[in-house]
Amino acid sequence: MLPFSAPDQALAPIRRICCVGAGYVGGPTCTVIALNCPSIIVTIVDVNPDRIAAWNSPPDEEGNLSNLPVYEPGLAEVVKQCRGRNLFFSTDIDAAIEQADLVFVSVNTPTKKSGMGAGFAADLHYVEASTRRIAAVSTSSKIIVEKSTVPCRTAASMRTILESNSRPGLRFDILSNPEFLAEGTAISDLQNPDRVLIGSLDTSAGRIAAARLASVYEHWVPQYRIYTTGLWSSELSKLAANALLAQRISSVNAMAAICEATGADVNEVAHACGLDARIGPKFLRASVGFGGSCFQKDILNLVYLSESLNLPQVAEYWKQVITMNEWSKTRFSNKVVSTLFNTITEKRIAVLGFAFKKNTGDTRESAAITLCRNFRQERAKVVIYDPKVPQSQIYLDLTEPGVVDDREAVRQQVTIACSALEACAGAEAVVIATEWDEFKHLDWRKAYQIMSKPAFVFDGRGIVDAKALRAIGFKVHSVGKGPEIVDPIWS
Ligand code: UDX
Ligand code: ADP
Repeated sequence: MLPFSAPDQALAPIRRICCVGAGYVGGPTCTVIALNCPSIIVTIVDVNPDRIAAWNSPPDEEGNLSNLPVYEPGLAEVVKQCRGRNLFFSTDIDAAIEQADLVFVSVNTPTKKSGMGAGFAADLHYVEASTRRIAAVSTSSKIIVEKSTVPCRTAASMRTILESNSRPGLRFDILSNPEFLAEGTAISDLQNPDRVLIGSLDTSAGRIAAARLASVYEHWVPQYRIYTTGLWSSELSKLAANALLAQRISSVNAMAAICEATGADVNEVAHACGLDARIGPKFLRASVGFGGSCFQKDILNLVYLSESLNLPQVAEYWKQVITMNEWSKTRFSNKVVSTLFNTITEKRIAVLGFAFKKNTGDTRESAAITLCRNFRQERAKVVIYDPKVPQSQIYLDLTEPGVVDDREAVRQQVTIACSALEACAGAEAVVIATEWDEFKHLDWRKAYQIMSKPAFVFDGRGIVDAKALRAIGFKVHSVGKGPEIVDPIWS
């Protein structure tokens, strides 16, 4: 991998960018490009007219863009600054592709639900459809950039589709430029990336295309943070980075189970380990389990790749990260049931948080979905509160095929509260599923007063001050912390 160095020859500047896919990745990424590159016209397009309408929604009475389809701290302000200047959201996909010098393909690549590789392989039909569209409508040569996370060697399929379906004489240079932003911190991650990775073919045309894309990022990213690699390394690096991050969480969650059984404190263990410069402190927060659109999908993808390459031991190794994550979620919900005297039937359980992490409204693969399903199967009455996830999304997630077979039962057993305290009223137990700051600062005294007694708190994110809550009267279980054992030898 090389730090980027610009070729000697003058590069044709990028004047127009089209981003196909106005989702959690394409929307914020290209908005930040528009912010930092006022000389470039950026058009973000999508097949979903509702999504585009939401990106174009007018400010509310206070002048805020509160109806954007993606919630990210700082995003609305950037959209407000750039929209209509050099940033446009449109459903006219063909026109935006046609006019662009560079096209980001930023469409969804979910795990396949049926057919070959079902449950593991990435569903590439959105990538293929957008590639075919690019081939069909292009009247000039372009750089095509894979932004979506794709399996290794997808660029080769894109090249074949483009070359077989486009007008004669056009050339398409394909680059891989994976996005490493994390939701909830997308704007700061994009403004100050640890690295920008650009994969290209090792040919003079490939290097020039990479340099032209690098020139876009150089508007705000220092050159030493821009790295060039081969195409396949770049594609695989995204899967590898996510697998390594998820593996740390599963490792610390495995430690959490040992801590709970021994009376050790997982925060202290993680802190002690993280002080070793070789390990580092990040991504060692024990939790009820990781969620989000990437970790599980990318590891499954890696498992599929390993199996296809006849590397069953490698596949098994990575699969274990997912197995541990599933077990962490089940272990946590079992703890709730066993602590509440082995039954939660008809008991009111307040679930605080439904997003897969704080500062996002995204619920994809959220641990809360599994917890709520498990509580419902135990016939509890579940009351959910999340500050950013709309009611309709919660019901959609809880009635997905595979999560539930009886939609009506969900409506009867699950209600949505407008505040955390409303959710707590009359509840036997509070389960913290997402680490939203407002749960840390909740008026826990008030919550205690309005709950049934004994009042339990199950902290799946380790965010509340368990001692302070116990002083109020709560019975508290925090992930990765054993009960406060009073050892007769020491007391
Ligand atoms: C991840 C990668 O971090 C990012 O680089 C990539 O581009 C996309 O996938 P994201 O899924 O948005 O980003 O969020 P992330 O902060 O990684 O959190 C993923 C999940 O892990 C969340 O559910 C989070 O709560 C959980 N997590 C994270 C832990 O349980 N413990 C930790 O220490 C860190
Ligand atoms: P991600 O988290 O990867 O950004 P999202 O699902 O949030 O995934 O966004 C992907 C977007 O891509 C969706 O809004 C979807 O409508 C859009 N999309 C999928 N296929 C196409 C296509 N062929 N042309 C344009 N947009 C597409």
